[in-house]
Amino acid sequence: MRLLAASWPRRPPPWPRRAPPRRGSSGPGRRWLLSTPIFYVNGPPHIGHLYSALLADALHRHRGLRGAGPGRLATGTDEHGLKIQQAAAAAGMPPQEHCAHVSSLFRDLFSQAAISFTDFIRTTEPRHRQAVQHFWAALQGRGLLYKAFYEGWYCTPEECFLSPAQVTERPDARGRPCKVSLESGHQVHWTKEENYMFKLSEFREPLRKWLLGNRHVISPEPFYQVVLQWLEEDLPDLSVSRERSRLQWGIPVPGDSKQTIYVWVDALVNYLTVVGYPDAHHAWWPAAHHVVGKDILKFHAIYWPALLMAVGLDPPEQIYVHSHWTVHGQKMSKSLGNVVDPLACFRQYTVEGFRYFLLRQGVPDRDCDYYEEKVIKLVNSELADALGGLLNRCTSPSINPSGTYPLFSESCFPQVSDHLGVDAVGRAVAEDYELVASVAHLPTQVSHYFERFQIYKALEAIVACVRQTNGFFQRHVPWKLSRDSPAENRWLDTILHVALECLRVYGILLQPVIPATADKLLSRLAVMPAERAFSELTFLPRYRGKPCPFEGRRLGPDTGALFPRLETQRKRQLETKRS
Ligand code: MSP
Repeated sequence: MRLLAASWPRRPPPWPRRAPPRRGSSGPGRRWLLSTPIFYVNGPPHIGHLYSALLADALHRHRGLRGAGPGRLATGTDEHGLKIQQAAAAAGMPPQEHCAHVSSLFRDLFSQAAISFTDFIRTTEPRHRQAVQHFWAALQGRGLLYKAFYEGWYCTPEECFLSPAQVTERPDARGRPCKVSLESGHQVHWTKEENYMFKLSEFREPLRKWLLGNRHVISPEPFYQVVLQWLEEDLPDLSVSRERSRLQWGIPVPGDSKQTIYVWVDALVNYLTVVGYPDAHHAWWPAAHHVVGKDILKFHAIYWPALLMAVGLDPPEQIYVHSHWTVHGQKMSKSLGNVVDPLACFRQYTVEGFRYFLLRQGVPDRDCDYYEEKVIKLVNSELADALGGLLNRCTSPSINPSGTYPLFSESCFPQVSDHLGVDAVGRAVAEDYELVASVAHLPTQVSHYFERFQIYKALEAIVACVRQTNGFFQRHVPWKLSRDSPAENRWLDTILHVALECLRVYGILLQPVIPATADKLLSRLAVMPAERAFSELTFLPRYRGKPCPFEGRRLGPDTGALFPRLETQRKRQLETKRS
């Protein structure tokens, strides 16, 4: 990558500046704009795309349940650029039609997946074109763009120029030597043209300062270190337009009909478009929290903050980074034919089962592998057996004939300050007190993990408590207690009361991940919609001598299984053949 000519007036970058108080930053009622990346419409959605959207959705729902002030969740599609131009040509469709079709696939998928988006932006919308052109004019007005001849290796699938160090040579399908991107393996082409350049190099220090002053702005932490490391290296200026003769499918540079705005500048500005830039964004910016895959970290953690600083806006408050899904240990790719269709997964595992799998197994710090048996084993053991089984045991007519939330007896489960060695007082034993302590602490633990973008750990903690509750139930063999004996009756009711209280907590905490299953669980426990926020999560108040609003309440009418057990496709096929 080489810059052939350069001339620009040296002016100090307009950032850091005296920032107005961060409107969204602190206190109750704090605003929050959460975003997914906007998705390329060169092909239908796959499970990796769904994962990006699910992470954002779970964070959004979690925050809503905390009652933490107005929040928005923006998603949408990235519809300009060479890659889309080529995809439309390959499909034999005008680009507008092609984009509308693929964009609707994403929108439909997200609706089916219960992604709670409040805005779905398409970069071909007029509101976005206006925002991008205004942003461009702001960059130009601040003297941060200049024209230069530029040449380098262009990677169309990644829509960016690569440095010589990022390119390697490999034989193509016919054995001829061919240049490819070291990271993605995609072919690159030598491109030479006159472009507008953004003076990115001037932002190296401001970017370092921003990062060093905001140590938690990128999480998980290893990605923060990666970005800091990038800033140790050379930060060349960025080519931000393409010759219109080569790229017609994009937003024209204002006042220069021969140039098209670079698709990444176009795409990043979507985060401002959704909050009404250039007129109404102040109420929401910079309360932006972006969820992004690791492959687009540089665009979000270097280019985007630098562009924002360049126009006098603050960088986003938070960048959450996740790794990728592989399939049977291999990268998903069209050429390998192993791209997993999320709709097929919904049919096979149910929407809720698949949401649960991706969020429970997806670890943002490292790539995760998908295969059928893993989904089935996890969902069956944790949702159908552990959680569904527990609900079933506590509500079945044989054990709970009154169909109510039974009474808690303080004499059976007395409050103690030290549960070690006092088990002689009531009927509860030390492990039962440990269970109560774990579940009482669980909401704080879950919020802690959500705030650190460790949703999988939050789910791990919930499952550990569910298992502990099953252990509690099993330990006291309540089905052997006789309702005819007043003492045993009291203890049996207390066991059910404690188990239902635990289930109520799990139902409330699981809402961001499996909203429909959590709704079913909470409805069965007769927990009203107004009683499902985190502020209502007072666990086992009777243990602390406080009244419990649920005690004696009739349970909800839906007695069906909470979650169906799943079967492998092979087993289902065999069964269909037999019948
Ligand atoms: N259009 C850009 C983003 C612009 S945002 C201003 C783009 N689109 S994408 O469709 O290629 O990717 C969208 C998201 O899907 C990215 O966060 C990317 O990391 C994610 N994934 C794509 N493949 C993935 C996996 N195999 N696994 C997990 N997520 C992956 O980049």
